[in-house]
Amino acid sequence: MKNKLLSYVSEKIHWRHFFGGLSFILIILQLIIGIFLVFFYEPSLSDAYKSVQHLTNNVTGGSLLRNLHRWIAFSLFLSIIIHTIRCILRLDFLSQAKRILWLTGGISLLPLFLLIITGVILPWEWKGYWLMEMIPNYSEFVPFIGSELKTFFINTFTLPRYEVIHILLLPMTLLILVDYHFLNRLRKRGVFQYIFRHTIISLPILMVLLILSKHITIPTEDPQVIPFPLEGGHTPAAEWYFLIPLLPLMYYKGKLIPFLSIYLPFAAFLSFAFLPYYLRSRIVQEADIIRENNNFGGGIFKKVVKGFIVILLFAVISSLIYLGAYNSPTFGCNSCHNLNNGIRMGVPPAAFKDRNVLPNLNDNQWMMGHWFYPDTVY
Ligand code: HEC
Repeated sequence: MKNKLLSYVSEKIHWRHFFGGLSFILIILQLIIGIFLVFFYEPSLSDAYKSVQHLTNNVTGGSLLRNLHRWIAFSLFLSIIIHTIRCILRLDFLSQAKRILWLTGGISLLPLFLLIITGVILPWEWKGYWLMEMIPNYSEFVPFIGSELKTFFINTFTLPRYEVIHILLLPMTLLILVDYHFLNRLRKRGVFQYIFRHTIISLPILMVLLILSKHITIPTEDPQVIPFPLEGGHTPAAEWYFLIPLLPLMYYKGKLIPFLSIYLPFAAFLSFAFLPYYLRSRIVQEADIIRENNNFGGGIFKKVVKGFIVILLFAVISSLIYLGAYNSPTFGCNSCHNLNNGIRMGVPPAAFKDRNVLPNLNDNQWMMGHWFYPDTVY
């Protein structure tokens, strides 16, 4: 019985795409959980956080699913990073037929990234409010149209708009990209079989995510139960990914900021996404040879070496992410910003778009410092 199940599962599973399959499963889970969350979320400035608190504290399964939504958002990127490293090492993305896979995979990072940003804003507690203010501040460094972009993002922000972007626009864009990436070919093989099989081989990882979501949770019981200011430091969070391009805003001034925060990431992203389109054909031919060797050979030794390289590269990338963000107390904001400390500290201010009333919002070093070290910068 056990063997039968195993052979059924492993038949037609591409183990080399385990993390690609896992990413797909995680995206589907996010969609399903998102549909659940949507029924409890109230996109208004006064009630958004209340509705999130209600969902988390009073609705059966609400806390688990919300925290799962958050842990999946974090681990999805890690899974995609491993998937990408493995694809790079295999070199098969360089071939004419497969480079569209590479491009669509690369571009789908954009909606994923924006999903995290909008997802953090929606609960509209102080973290969401902070991030909503940082989008205009960041966009100001875009050349030529920076100041217009800044005004645009401040003026046009409303929670219902960001909800539509988060639950409709971005998921649709992502699904279209995923469709080009591999769904269209998968359809011939059977999408549901694929999902079923990959869910089964992903079960151990899904279990880990469930346990994390049960035990490391976003605090929402304020003002009755108040977290400590530095709580959540060292705890991985989806926020980490967007803190990284914002880091230069804390440490530097002047031209270095647009260079490090806009030009460099943008150039890196473009050159990465279009890699197979400009690499010379000689390399492509070599890739063909390597690929054939991959397909029709490669002993256990080769596999071990490759596995080691994947782990090494993954460790380097994830350590950099960790170093950039582990300090940030992503759970601690409510320790000061809760209703026990009065309306001023409890609810994001009504004048949140008016930088004349709240001049700190224009001060990037203050804003970043306050996020990372709220106990000393305030
Ligand atoms: C140690 C207490 C404390 C913690 C923890 C704290 N804050 Fe604050 N925060 C303050 C105080 C006090 C002010 C008001 C500063 C002022 O107006 O001069 C403030 C102001 C702000 C502002 C500026 C705009 C406004 O309305 O005054 C933002 C945005 C903000 N906090 C976000 C956050 C976020 C996000 C976190 C969690 C990462 C956080 N805060 C954690 C004490 C804290």
